[in-house]
Amino acid sequence: GAVSALAIALFAGQAVASEGCDDGEMVIKFSHVVAATGHPKGDAATLLADRVNKEMDGKACMEVFANSTLFDDDKVMEALLLGDVQLAAPSLSKFEAYTLKYRLFDLPFIFADLKAVGAFTGSEAGKNLLKVMEDQGYTGLGYWMSGMKYFSAKKPLLVPSDANGLKFRVQTSDVAVAMIEAMGASAQKLAFKEVYGALQTGVVDGQENSWCNIYKQKFFEVQDGVSETNHQALAYLLVTSTEWLNGLDADVRDQFLAIAEDVTNAANDEVGKKEADCRQGILDAKGEIRTLTPEQRTEWVKTMKPVWDKFEGDIGKDLIDAAAGAGS
Ligand code: LMR
Repeated sequence: GAVSALAIALFAGQAVASEGCDDGEMVIKFSHVVAATGHPKGDAATLLADRVNKEMDGKACMEVFANSTLFDDDKVMEALLLGDVQLAAPSLSKFEAYTLKYRLFDLPFIFADLKAVGAFTGSEAGKNLLKVMEDQGYTGLGYWMSGMKYFSAKKPLLVPSDANGLKFRVQTSDVAVAMIEAMGASAQKLAFKEVYGALQTGVVDGQENSWCNIYKQKFFEVQDGVSETNHQALAYLLVTSTEWLNGLDADVRDQFLAIAEDVTNAANDEVGKKEADCRQGILDAKGEIRTLTPEQRTEWVKTMKPVWDKFEGDIGKDLIDAAAGAGS
């Protein structure tokens, strides 16, 4: 009858979702929000799936869901605990409901470039931060780099005061809100998949992101231009459920973790090139990119750096000093 037809339809839906997996293989689902290809995270997720599916054939089978097609970054954290997905890589800005320590990564101008981020995440202090959410059921497997961040808006932004009165979309990060307010602007937290529409319809006037997000999501098409502010790094936590990870057979877990580490290193090595390609893609599509003079850049630093003091209590001064000194 109707009920069994529905049951079959639901079952069929499930079967389609795991189409590439054989009976008896453990299914590893990875949900993320960015483009499937030509993006540091999209490509890293694909590389991880390719390696797992080849090297762990018969034991494990990995599927990637890109472009927020399965979950957005808020929902994916619950989905990990429910076992609906096993892997995600939200940006480090999106964990403040779980830990305040990652506010470190959002402090404006704390990292000069991705090399400095890598120097910190590779240090003992950086590695310890992978485990700060274990009491809530999450284990960090590694840091995936994405790029530095740049502001775009509906008008040229050369100095922070150009942003007075504008509204910017931010990730779910109070540090980002404080930073935008320091510019005399207002902030609105929105999911990534909402950003293009919000810019297009004027719900917000501007946003901040990496070259590949600005290019792949076509934000530049609905903005006046992008200013090369380099004010923050965009990086992700490759995160899993602690319960799921601990439940794996030791040999399966070791093999999976070794592949994940390898892919993390390989993907991070490619990020600079991918970001350069996305930047060029914006220029080729006649998008406007504005570089800042040293004097203009100093204005941005002067305006935004006082934000650090507000969050020192959440993060800890030792950690801030370690991160600020990394790579120099
Ligand atoms: C954003 O929401 O702007 C980014 O975190 C998206 C991403 O994952 O790169």
